[in-house]
Amino acid sequence: MTGDLILGIETSCDDTSVALVAEDGSVTACETVNQFTIHEAFGGVFPDLASRAHLTAILPAVARVTGAIGHDRARIRAIAVTRGPGLIGSLLVGVNAAQGLGLAWGKPVIGVNHLRGHLRSPELEGQALAYPALVLLASGGHTVLARMESRERITALGATRDDSMGECYDKVARSLGLPMPGGPAIDRLALAGSPVHALPRPMLREGYDFSFSGLKSSVARLLEREPALAETEAGRADVAASFVAACMEIAEAKLDRALAAHDVASVVVVGGVAASRQLRARVQALADRHGIACTLPPPTWATDNAAMIALAGWDYARAGQDPGLRADPALPLDAW
Ligand code: KG4
Ligand code: ZN
Repeated sequence: MTGDLILGIETSCDDTSVALVAEDGSVTACETVNQFTIHEAFGGVFPDLASRAHLTAILPAVARVTGAIGHDRARIRAIAVTRGPGLIGSLLVGVNAAQGLGLAWGKPVIGVNHLRGHLRSPELEGQALAYPALVLLASGGHTVLARMESRERITALGATRDDSMGECYDKVARSLGLPMPGGPAIDRLALAGSPVHALPRPMLREGYDFSFSGLKSSVARLLEREPALAETEAGRADVAASFVAACMEIAEAKLDRALAAHDVASVVVVGGVAASRQLRARVQALADRHGIACTLPPPTWATDNAAMIALAGWDYARAGQDPGLRADPALPLDAW
């Protein structure tokens, strides 16, 4: 196979993303089209509308991204597309587009695990992960703590038993009347407030699993009891700060416990919530205390994007892994 770039395609949730990435993680082009305005009225991602929006956005995004290399398809070695986990309708749009392009261009198509994409995101444009690594993957769909022996060998230590951390940020944002995307809005707002409200820290002292639904409902109950809190900027900021303080304490406690039990060279946080300034600062401080490296993706590569899928695609090509193109909404972390 020739070609120095892999074309990545990501459509697992509500971002249509296409990218061209070299094996060393340098990104030649990446285009991400979000759907916030489409889903705003529903207060969350509406699956049918997400699929339709991917269908409209995908080929124009491919055309713009390949335009960055003068449509020189000889440079494209393979197409890597997210096959799961995610919304089935959204996944099928990406997989179908990739199959069509592969056939038309005569290129192999690799079905990639979205979560393996997130795990590679810190290595886009430069940083190298030090292994073994302790990884927290915190996104809208997942909250998982894992140990990575190498790029290939991943063992999950724990995961959320209910909501993900990102989903919880989004729901709290919605109950405070903040616009989508809720995570960044809460993260920003929390910096202006104080954590004056007592909120629970579910499963803080237990193992490596997480639980966020009780925290989410506690915020909802607080706002039912004191509706005036959502009516002023200062009130909203204090609720956001109290919620974020609980999330940070939970994340730190789980990472700290895992670092005490596992001899690792680095701690890594990936997924959309890794864009949070507060989480980044907290994990950096924790890593400093343990005297190990802290590797975080630049915020642009923390949230869903096709560049991380293309970079993971290189791993599949090198390892000779070809899991096929069956879209799987529940693909587990350790699957190819
Ligand atoms: O990784 P991602 O883009 O999509 C999934 O694979 O789920 O993660 C999206 C999640 C959303 O819940 C969003 O609110 C959250 O990541 N998020 C943030 C920030 N940016 C995105 N949460 C906290 N602070 C942020 N700056
Ligand atoms: Zn994701």
